[in-house]
Amino acid sequence: MGSDPQEPFSSKLRVPEALTFDDVLLRPAESRVEPDEADTSTRVSANVSLTVPVLSAAMDTVTESEMAIAMARQGGLGVLHRSMDAEAMVREIERVKRADELFIRREDVVTVGPEQTVGTVDETMERAGVSGAPVVDEDDRVLGIISGTDIRPYLGIGEGDPVREAMTDEVITARGDVSAREALELMYDHKIERAPIVDEDDRLTGLVTMQGILQRRAYDDAARDADGSLRAGVAVGPFETDRARAADEAGADVLFIDCAHAHNLNVIDSAREIRATVDADVVVGNVGTREAAEDVVDFADGLKVGIGPGSICTTRVVTGTGMPQITAIAEVADVAARHDVPVIADGGIRYSGDAIKAIAAGADAVMLGSYFAGTDEAPGRVITMNGKRYKQYRGMGSVGAMRSGGGERYLRDEENGENEGEAFVPEGVEAATPYKGSLESELHQLVGGMKAGMGYVGAGELPEFKTRSELVRVSSAGQQEGHPHDVVITDEAPNYSPNE
Ligand code: XMP
Repeated sequence: MGSDPQEPFSSKLRVPEALTFDDVLLRPAESRVEPDEADTSTRVSANVSLTVPVLSAAMDTVTESEMAIAMARQGGLGVLHRSMDAEAMVREIERVKRADELFIRREDVVTVGPEQTVGTVDETMERAGVSGAPVVDEDDRVLGIISGTDIRPYLGIGEGDPVREAMTDEVITARGDVSAREALELMYDHKIERAPIVDEDDRLTGLVTMQGILQRRAYDDAARDADGSLRAGVAVGPFETDRARAADEAGADVLFIDCAHAHNLNVIDSAREIRATVDADVVVGNVGTREAAEDVVDFADGLKVGIGPGSICTTRVVTGTGMPQITAIAEVADVAARHDVPVIADGGIRYSGDAIKAIAAGADAVMLGSYFAGTDEAPGRVITMNGKRYKQYRGMGSVGAMRSGGGERYLRDEENGENEGEAFVPEGVEAATPYKGSLESELHQLVGGMKAGMGYVGAGELPEFKTRSELVRVSSAGQQEGHPHDVVITDEAPNYSPNE
């Protein structure tokens, strides 16, 4: 031990200390930027750009296809969780990819046969997430169309009846060269919601739907691939090469290697192999140090940061390990920026201010779980407790998530054995989060706050914001000053609830 006061107490203690969101604030700067004009476009991985720098977490109480569709329509990206088998994953990816298609391609059109029963067909349509299907013969000629269950009771049709009796056989069809406008007019004139597209022999070549056309028009800033389909992210395990391939073939745009500690060298070897096997971008995470970033930055299309900052995480208390998130982002971003690799800050974001601080620390985008878990688009139903509405939200390393097949990211080998229930050492909790309504309004608040932060710093675009912004350290008194104080809040704000 030297006598220099700048020296660490011991070589074991790292200086400078690690900081998180509440420890810092953006330093206001000269500006001509109006928040409304701020452009939040960013890159989330080597080949995928977004207009909104926000991702929804790969958790079974946050992102399935409904959330992923809503996120992509709003310009962000949903990352499908991996607590499902590979077939279910492929179906979920396909749901996202086909959600807003102008013309659904033949191979993606769900069709049924005339002799199938109405009951089986309803099941097929429900599984595929469609509300109507063309009825075709063995030669793929269109015989009719079957849709909605609502009028069947009036026609005296039951579940056991054949489709041929329940279908509409006067089918309005369109040709493959029909424009969006013509298709809209056709459907409007005939008061129909979908029209099969057929060739000159009446063989099915695709399907056009009213919903598809209107939805595409409604979402100008949506995250779309080169074919116009919505972007889809999906989590895969570090050793799941086959699953990664299946996700890639199903059209996923970004694969997220889903691991609580991606600086595990076996994980890195496998992630490297996956990267070499697929066409989709591969984001590697989670990391939290510059050393980890150095070890993956040569092959990763993006790096995801977060060791234990999440609202439902207990990794830090259970394992004694972690990196406060602002420092973790800054360390990883220093390395990633030199290689021009995007960084995603994952976990711990409670307010829009945290999200824009994460970008100031060097992230290109942010990933959130708890912020979105209470929305309509998150899986799970609304529950009422003491007169207030909530939705379930749980860590993927919680006992509940691990029991239902998720949480492999936190499982140790011996926990895959027979007595798994007792052997779990969870790194997350199961919780409830206030019900919040639509994702669109939550995102609006989140991105609105981020844009206002850009205005305070005087940067109209995110790359400029990243270089221009400065973070100042705040004392705990400064932190208290930043929250409402010395008042009793009488009305809930849509973007603020006190930290209990
Ligand atoms: P927020 O704070 O947005 O965090 O709710 C979401 C992120 O938390 C991570 N995650 C976990 N971390 N134990 C952990 O230590 C868990 O059980 C767990 N489940 C999710 C994950 O990175 C997610 O995006």
